[in-house]
Amino acid sequence: MKQTKLIARILKRVTTLAALTGIAILAACTGNKKTSATETADGTLYREKYRSQIHFTPAEHWMNDPNGMVYYRGEYHLFYQHYPEKSVWGPMHWGHAVSRDLVHWEHLPIALYPDSLGYIFSGSAVVDWKNTSGLGTPDNPALLAFFTYHNPEIEKAGGIDVESQALAYSLDNGRTWTKYAGNPVLKNPGIRDFRDPKVFWHEDSGQWIMSIAAQQVIHFYGSKDALNWTYLSEFGQGVGCHEGVWECPDLFPLPVQGTSETKWVLIVNINPGGPAGGSATQYFVGHFDGKNFRSNQQESRWMDYGKDNYAGVTWSDAPDNRRILIGWMNNWQYAGEKPCVKWSGACTLPREMGLVKSGNGYLLTSVPVKELDKLQGETATWDKLKVEKSFDLAKGLPFAQAPVKLTFSLKEQPGSSLADKYGICLKNKQGECMIVGYDNRNKLFYIDRTNATGETFSDKFACIHSAPYQVQPDGTEWEVVIDVSSLELFVDKGRLVMTDVFYPSEPFDKMELFTKDGVATFSNVSVTQLKSIW
Ligand code: FRU
Repeated sequence: MKQTKLIARILKRVTTLAALTGIAILAACTGNKKTSATETADGTLYREKYRSQIHFTPAEHWMNDPNGMVYYRGEYHLFYQHYPEKSVWGPMHWGHAVSRDLVHWEHLPIALYPDSLGYIFSGSAVVDWKNTSGLGTPDNPALLAFFTYHNPEIEKAGGIDVESQALAYSLDNGRTWTKYAGNPVLKNPGIRDFRDPKVFWHEDSGQWIMSIAAQQVIHFYGSKDALNWTYLSEFGQGVGCHEGVWECPDLFPLPVQGTSETKWVLIVNINPGGPAGGSATQYFVGHFDGKNFRSNQQESRWMDYGKDNYAGVTWSDAPDNRRILIGWMNNWQYAGEKPCVKWSGACTLPREMGLVKSGNGYLLTSVPVKELDKLQGETATWDKLKVEKSFDLAKGLPFAQAPVKLTFSLKEQPGSSLADKYGICLKNKQGECMIVGYDNRNKLFYIDRTNATGETFSDKFACIHSAPYQVQPDGTEWEVVIDVSSLELFVDKGRLVMTDVFYPSEPFDKMELFTKDGVATFSNVSVTQLKSIW
């Protein structure tokens, strides 16, 4: 069928669909508030310009790293680096929220305040099931939160021992926290950057393991009681990327898909030095024996090639052995300058992690958690769309505005008439646009946000960045989740991921499939309206 005829047919179908679904859409937009955040008098809270509708954001003021994620008694706890006075970084607290489904969040009071030992920097939380610390009881195990004290006085005086590791515990489902009297549980060993403890129980060696970022390597410590810690080993000299300081590590086992093998994954956040510039997350796959982590991998591997996924770590004790990660959707290159006033900072979507064999190594995959399916509203689908230049999926579709999910596949092989570049382009009437494409000549995915903001706030924001990717023999599947000010691309079930934010002066109202220099046939195209979580 000729393209024009096909388009006309689709438009007719879409218009009919729109007429039929108008009432349902209105209902979805006005529905369901599940936050304890206080409403503003004019009802604008969580409806402000740029406010994410399906991502966690603090009600007000600054957030950076997600911290202390632990699942306990039906609740996913999410703590986060928080400055409750302003929308810029400042003396760090741990903000707190809980969720029963990883989708809707309830804000809780601040869990940890800075004190005479310092600011409360990043860390983790676990359930002390065996009551190894003696801080709980076998019937009511303590939640243990490990965090870094960052002492601004020592920092100002030019001291080295600025950062040490400390413990707080809760006996009431994380509602209130007591700082351990013997803090710090791990003193600074003479390393200026020594932070972000991530703790887990290692059954085989019968001890807690703490991974700590120490300048540009990871240190591992062990403890039988979570109170007294012994140095075990170091990892990282001469491998991976070392263009910045290493931060926020995480070590966990993951089954290798389709095999009976389990490997250990070490997540290492790094700033700067990321593939898109600034902050990013690298990982190493190897083996952990209770003392040493070893890996054959020499090269840097990146969990996300976008510019805005940093400091991600995973939930402790997630049910069914799931490994779920959430990151901070931001980049230290411009985090403090971003144009949100009432609040600053958002989390990525929670993502389910997996491991697949790839060539001689292993590939860490991540996809949005399945719980997000419950946000799905109206959907429009097209079996096949042959596109030359552009086709606006949003035209005539009353629900193709953020938050929205777009999926499609491309089956054509390179060497056919396939266009040099193809992908999607979000546009508004101001001529601003956000482009996500595949460059078929150079075999890479790219994001072009050189014109994706009406604000001038950092010369590091406008950029084009890319990720090498060889199309699979049976084609490529795209899943793109678009929120009011962010886009997350998941290719081939999370084998390649890119996360980027944008700040258009008015919302993008066009969602074009595009090609450059040629034609591409997009198959199984779907556009799904997502419901706001707030
Ligand atoms: C990462 C980080 C951590 C530190 C925290 C301070 O973004 O720099 O290393 O603990 O932020 O807010």
